[in-house]
Amino acid sequence: MSARPRVSPAPAAKRAPGAPGAPKVTLSRLEEKKALGEPIVMVTAYDHPSASVAEAAGVDVVLVGDSAAMTVLGYPSTVPVSVEEMLMLAGAARRGLSTPLLVGDLPFGSYEASDEQAILTAQRFIKEAGCDAVKIERGGSSADRAAAIVGAGIPVMGHVGLTPQSATALGGYRSQGRTAERALEVVEDALALQDAGCFSLVFEAIPSELTDAVMPRLRIPVIGIGAGPATDGQVLVFHDLLGIYDGHAARFVQRYGNVREAMVAGVTAYADDVRERRYPQPRHGYTMAPDEAAALREALVGG
Ligand code: KIV
Repeated sequence: MSARPRVSPAPAAKRAPGAPGAPKVTLSRLEEKKALGEPIVMVTAYDHPSASVAEAAGVDVVLVGDSAAMTVLGYPSTVPVSVEEMLMLAGAARRGLSTPLLVGDLPFGSYEASDEQAILTAQRFIKEAGCDAVKIERGGSSADRAAAIVGAGIPVMGHVGLTPQSATALGGYRSQGRTAERALEVVEDALALQDAGCFSLVFEAIPSELTDAVMPRLRIPVIGIGAGPATDGQVLVFHDLLGIYDGHAARFVQRYGNVREAMVAGVTAYADDVRERRYPQPRHGYTMAPDEAAALREALVGG
């Protein structure tokens, strides 16, 4: 037997997020990012193309948010969207992703009634749509639901501050926790969700002072949307950040594109070309061999 020189394995090449073969984002990777002070990037996606854009852009977490109710399904609020609709969107997003952590939003009315209802709905998001985790809104009884889902082995992200599923009770789509008394309620909700075992929290539309005050008490990564710069990461709605959605944009929305304008321009140009007979051109079509075309004409005339 010939002695072989010992070769120590080459260090694994570090692949940038979004690069082919980049390692999957796990819950421990998110904890690590928080510990290292590396901002966590989260974006919503609701279908295969938007998920594959998020994948290619190297985001850490993709949320199939119930904002889909408004951005892609045309409902006036997030309240009407059903579990079946969310599962269909989440499944499509799953098929466009391999690297980011995929979180599915449990819609209004699908988890509040009992721990059993919450566990059964969460299990469907994991089993049928392939989500890695689920998100639920509010503190209070939602903290009990979160504990039940976590107890069933499913990671849960909490969501406090402006919680659109209860916007009516909160006085509309407005920032929350702007008095010391209301801010303490948000703190209480956040701590209850952390104690319930949530792996992460979303803070939506709360004053930066409130975020600054509560962050030192949170061991889990916090993702903000309109909550100031002190959170561990940021989330934006895909259609808002790319300018696809035409509705009202909240103060925290920063537009990084105007995709709707480009889409309208593209479809208008297509419509003009069809009407002016500029499309299709010969290069867009298929041809038959001349003898086959002649035989076809002959057969039709003969028939
Ligand atoms: O539904 C959603 O898109 C959300 C984000 C705004 C966090 O909950």
